[in-house]
Amino acid sequence: MPKLYIETVGCQMNVLDSELVVAALRQRGYELTGSTSDADTILFNTCSVREHAEEKIYSALGRLKNAKRQNPHKIIGVIGCMAQNHQRTVFERAPYVDLVVGPGQLHQVPDLLEKIAAGAGPQLEVSLGRKDGSRDEITRSHESFDPLRDPTMRPTPFQAYVRIQIGCDKFCTYCIVPSVRGPEQSRPPQHILAEARQLAAEGCKEITLLGQTVNSYRYRDGERTTRMSDLLAALHEIDGLERIKFVTNYPKDMTDDLLAAVRDLPKLAKYLHVPAQSGSNRVLQRMKRGYTIEEYREMHARIRDWLPEAAVTSDFIVGFCGETDEDFEESCELVRECHFKNSFIFKYSQRPGTKGAELYADDVPEDVKRRRNNELLAIQNQISEEDNQPFLGRQVEVLVEGPSKSAERSGATGILPVQNREQTQPPGLTGKMPVAHETVQLVGRTMCDRIVVFDGNPRQIGQILPVSIYDANAHTLFGAVVTQHVGPELFTLTT
Ligand code: SAH
Ligand code: SF4
Ligand code: F3S
Repeated sequence: MPKLYIETVGCQMNVLDSELVVAALRQRGYELTGSTSDADTILFNTCSVREHAEEKIYSALGRLKNAKRQNPHKIIGVIGCMAQNHQRTVFERAPYVDLVVGPGQLHQVPDLLEKIAAGAGPQLEVSLGRKDGSRDEITRSHESFDPLRDPTMRPTPFQAYVRIQIGCDKFCTYCIVPSVRGPEQSRPPQHILAEARQLAAEGCKEITLLGQTVNSYRYRDGERTTRMSDLLAALHEIDGLERIKFVTNYPKDMTDDLLAAVRDLPKLAKYLHVPAQSGSNRVLQRMKRGYTIEEYREMHARIRDWLPEAAVTSDFIVGFCGETDEDFEESCELVRECHFKNSFIFKYSQRPGTKGAELYADDVPEDVKRRRNNELLAIQNQISEEDNQPFLGRQVEVLVEGPSKSAERSGATGILPVQNREQTQPPGLTGKMPVAHETVQLVGRTMCDRIVVFDGNPRQIGQILPVSIYDANAHTLFGAVVTQHVGPELFTLTT
């Protein structure tokens, strides 16, 4: 049986793509390995959103040069967004790479690997660029890869990502995603519902719907249009599903019907990730985000009106072209005012091929970007900590995801590690089963996506449990499972 090693960077889309590629390869007889040295095939599922993510992949490829020299039959592949972005350049920079496949061609990976193994030489399969054909041709060349799901392939069998949209048409000037993921396409609702029903039937309790601007979801079929809120209502009916999340939202498409759906449908997570990117109109305009800061504020106020308890999170880019101290101060102000549960903060990284790279100089020095990044992060961290304090003494419902990071590090449990968003290995690598009687530190999430750490039993992984919170920092709530007594003690307590 050929052994496969796969490493994944980037966003949740890539995590899902890796899961599906691995599932397809397992069907062809591959088995997974956690080490590159005994792997017959090594795949990197890559990201192009910042330069750093690309350079890390080239370094990883560099480390494999000798291994390939010693064993020329080892197949090395680069798949995903960087494959689409760099295409032949990958072969030029790492001539020992055998396979380059863009995200719109992932269905071809198993056949291409067979061809390479049969001696056909290096293979390149990418989709059309955004200027390389008619809209129809380009759209068709970016195929959504959504084969049948296999529960054993997921980081946890009770949680799953479900793609509802591919690509992006917003063309924010800093962003490479529309080039590498192609035109925005919403998946037909009946496909999404069928997949969600199958997942629920296999014991999946939580699904996270994925799209670059997920709330722009809209599917037209003749006269009938399915909006995001309609899709959510239909998914809500599926027995067995207990939580539904969706990421990432585009501020301009946060319509009232969607907010009403989140408010009225109990299975919907009270959590909205709506990146602002900047607090300055000047910068937003250069970014071509399509809204003013006044409009963002209005949208944010509407979320607070409809969903006072919801956790709202954001992304920010600091040091975008021409960003002044005043512009940056406006981002700080927005963070203070909106009281985000948390924000992901990135230093601007110029991406060749984007409008931003063509139109504006990357003129904010690296040290200024770094300082602004740290400053905004410090403001956000303080707010995140304040935001978690009201949970002290409260009881929350936690979906238990697995052992906490520290339990994993100490190796106390022998349980499969919980996967994080940046890096994932599909399960089945470490293989040891949980030890049922041990008390371990577990981690899970609330309905509003807050991380909760508590002591529990490995058997509780996958359950939704009541947890009482006794401590909190910026990123984590600490609690204890509430045990339900049905005996004389309860009787005496309540009388
Ligand atoms: N579709 C999502 C996010 C896409 S990329 C959205 O529209 O919000 C995830 C985040 O990376 C973005 O929200 C942005 O904050 C950041 N990002 C994108 N391009 C970047 C660049 N060139 N440099 C730095 N950060 C970038
Ligand atoms: Fe990139 Fe903007 Fe599309 Fe998000 S909305 S993927 S930031 S172009
Ligand atoms: Fe990166 Fe591609 Fe996602 S560029 S952020 S992996 S869509």
